[in-house]
Amino acid sequence: MELKFEAKPVEQVESDAVVVIAFDKDSAASGLTPEVTMAANAATGGWIEELYQSGEFAGKLFEMALLHRPAGLMAKRLLVVGGGTGTKFSGAELRNATAAAVRFLASKGVRSAALALDASPSLESLATAAAEGAILGGYEPDQYKTGEKETHPVEIFAIASPGAPGGMNECLDHALIVAEAQNVARALASEPANRMTPSILAQRARDMCFGSNLQCEVMDQAGMRQLGMGALLGVAQGSAEPPAFIVLRYHPFEEVDSAAHLGLVGKAVTFDSGGISIKPSENMDKMKYDMCGGAAVLGAMHAIARLQPPIRVTALIPAVENMPGSRAQRPGDIVTTLSGKTVEVLNTDAEGRLILADALTYARQQGCTHLVDAATLTGAIVVALGHLHSGLFGNDDAMLERTLAAARAEGEKLWPMPLDEEYKDELKSPFADLPNIGTRWGGAITAAMFLKQFADPTPWVHLDIAGTAWLEEKKPYMPKGPTGVGVRTMVRLALGWGG
Ligand code: BES
Ligand code: MN
Ligand code: ZN
Repeated sequence: MELKFEAKPVEQVESDAVVVIAFDKDSAASGLTPEVTMAANAATGGWIEELYQSGEFAGKLFEMALLHRPAGLMAKRLLVVGGGTGTKFSGAELRNATAAAVRFLASKGVRSAALALDASPSLESLATAAAEGAILGGYEPDQYKTGEKETHPVEIFAIASPGAPGGMNECLDHALIVAEAQNVARALASEPANRMTPSILAQRARDMCFGSNLQCEVMDQAGMRQLGMGALLGVAQGSAEPPAFIVLRYHPFEEVDSAAHLGLVGKAVTFDSGGISIKPSENMDKMKYDMCGGAAVLGAMHAIARLQPPIRVTALIPAVENMPGSRAQRPGDIVTTLSGKTVEVLNTDAEGRLILADALTYARQQGCTHLVDAATLTGAIVVALGHLHSGLFGNDDAMLERTLAAARAEGEKLWPMPLDEEYKDELKSPFADLPNIGTRWGGAITAAMFLKQFADPTPWVHLDIAGTAWLEEKKPYMPKGPTGVGVRTMVRLALGWGG
């Protein structure tokens, strides 16, 4: 999709469809609040008002009304998109509303579209969010559908606003990079496990780095053995697919805060059968998305390479398949982690924390001074937070604050979870330093507490994205499938480091 800016009033936008937002008729913002919407209404002889009066359209969030050959406008169609009550309408809502509009227009075969926005002090941030929405809305996980495609993507998307602020093209460039990176993560995550093994993921990482300013190294099983990554190897040994430890390095051209070195760690279990502690077959197919943390980290690096934040960033992605093969680890096995700590593997389905333990230790050995991990780690976080918020855990208030601020700015919902030292009482093994599971309750917290034993004392945050990485039921702005959650937060965290 091509993005562009047009310094034009809504009447003069030439496009297959010009899009305006209209709020709920009962809201304080009042249906026609955006000036461009009022202008479109006036140009069309009151068509939008008529829509409200007829009861056909009420301005509910993501509601759509389409008019062909709108009188008084140069565009071929006018699409009115409901903005809801408008009281909390900000970048996050506009991102989704724009994505919904693009998906609606794609389903009609419309090839070019323009969103009309008021000239305002927040135009740059709103335009960035809208442009991201347009790119995100264009994503469709239909690569294995062989028949005629149901939708034809919108090819040209413009932001139109009267007046010409200088920074507009930079905003669109930024939006394109960030949203494409999120789509990169989604594309990786949408591959089924037979087409996305650890080796294939490693090759995709290499391909991504080729000709870019990222260095890529892939450690194989022999390398892991040499280092002593016993926890990672224990998980991998039940599968015929060899594991891969993917490392991507980014060095800023000019280091601003040369002491800081951010480590992004992503869980990439390309399929989680549970291992010997095997999962029930119902919904087991979903465990192809157990690599969404790793995919998000790769997506973030895709954007970081292009946006060049002023901080060193290293991505560390342990990739394995968790299978119950004849060499698989057994419940009760004791493994020695890279840190030297021993772990009693009481449940082979708690594999994410095992591979992350070695990855976090390796990240610290590599000199990372701050750590972020993203992982589809626990079913318990889905019980706690449902599918709206990812769980946020950490051992450092400043790092938690930074992460929350980055997520808020990007419209990614994170909910802070507790991690008091007392939770460590859950992690006692009579035979090893730690068991890999706690008791029944607070499972997302004990999983995070387990990770903390390997992150400490380095400032660290953990995003449990088990409930948010995959959309179960399609939304107007997103198809069923991978969401690419975490990418934008990680990118903003890196970009915002200097100041
Ligand atoms: N990959 C799963 C977590 C998961 C569950 C992700 C549901 C997405 C949706 C993880 O490896 C796992 O199996 N966790 C277990 C831990 C338990 C054995 C302590 C879980 O949450 O049931
Ligand atoms: Mn598991
Ligand atoms: Zn898992």
